Amino acid sequence: VWRAMQDHGMEELIFCQDQKSGLKAVIALHSTKLGPALGGCRLWSYASEQEAIEDAMKLAKGMTYKAAISGLPYGGGKAVVLKHVGMKRDAAFAALGRFIERLHGEYITGVDLGTTPQDMDQINRETRHVTDQSGTLGATGNFTAEMTAYGVFLGIQTSLTCKYGLTDMKGVRIALQGLGKVGYALARRLHQAGAQLIVSDIDPGKISQAVQKFNALPVSSENIHLHSCEVYAPCAMGGTLTHLSIPQLSCGIVAGAANNQLADEQLCDMLEQRNILYAPDYAINAGGILSTGAELAGTGARGATAAVEKIPGTLKHLYEYARKNGITTASAADTIAEAKFA
Ligand code: NAI
Repeated sequence: VWRAMQDHGMEELIFCQDQKSGLKAVIALHSTKLGPALGGCRLWSYASEQEAIEDAMKLAKGMTYKAAISGLPYGGGKAVVLKHVGMKRDAAFAALGRFIERLHGEYITGVDLGTTPQDMDQINRETRHVTDQSGTLGATGNFTAEMTAYGVFLGIQTSLTCKYGLTDMKGVRIALQGLGKVGYALARRLHQAGAQLIVSDIDPGKISQAVQKFNALPVSSENIHLHSCEVYAPCAMGGTLTHLSIPQLSCGIVAGAANNQLADEQLCDMLEQRNILYAPDYAINAGGILSTGAELAGTGARGATAAVEKIPGTLKHLYEYARKNGITTASAADTIAEAKFA
């Protein structure tokens, strides 16, 4: 474990166990250099304990980079709860709250994959170092996903200007993979702005909705990246940019909401060689963490919107930095973020 911690540059790992509720969890603090570690709580059935620990570390590290590039006064952390049949859910999250309380604010949790505002309510019974509990913006409808979509929309606009000198989206072809909470909200904004949408999802219901409402062209999920377009926007799962898919891309820009879009960090070189502009995922999809930051700062929906509207500036800066230093946009993002927390 220490070897893995060293490789990820982790500060601290906390192993939590509560026999009464069956809680088994890991809290990973990657960095608290810029402020308390911020990052949601994931509930997942892992194949092994090792896999859960590795996931917690990787996710916490990602949060450090995302917070740093976004200019937030927070570090990165993550809690991972191991899902198993014997776990009493409410009691387990309350127990996790007690572990978080012991950290005296060094870690602030929130909703992530598999958890809900109701789980955060249980945590909140034991600690105030939690977001997304009932009554907060994070627990309101699709607020976080909407803010993420808004940031990606603005980031696409910025990338179109940087790459093609375009100032609007009329007639711009955008291939959008995944019409979930973020993808659908993004499709709505792109359609309103006059873009031509090419869409895919594994859920046929979502496809027909997008065809009806946004006059989108439906295509198969396996082939969406082959379509000729200006922007390919991965908004479903990560890892869609691979050694196999990159040579097949027929776009000028990759800019989407999915986390960890590059199957391997070095693949950004391949995109660059193909003259494809890559908007680093953790910079363009930071709308969620920026909303949480606004909520913690007490600036509400207005503060969140203002923070998300800084994403274009962040992207412009890193595109410029990459160009000046002859490095990829992914390396530029890492370098700028690391300079802040290293
Ligand atoms: P979601 O679960 O609401 O939507 C995912 C959508 O992708 C679903 O409609 C699903 O049917 C579809 N999908 C799954 N596999 C697919 C495939 N092979 N091809 C096409 N579509 C497929 O998730 P959400 O919240 O919209 O998130 C989307 C992505 O954005 C995820 O990678 C997530 O990690 C990332 N993200 C989300 C944020 C948020 O605020 N929700 C914040 C930052 C990143």
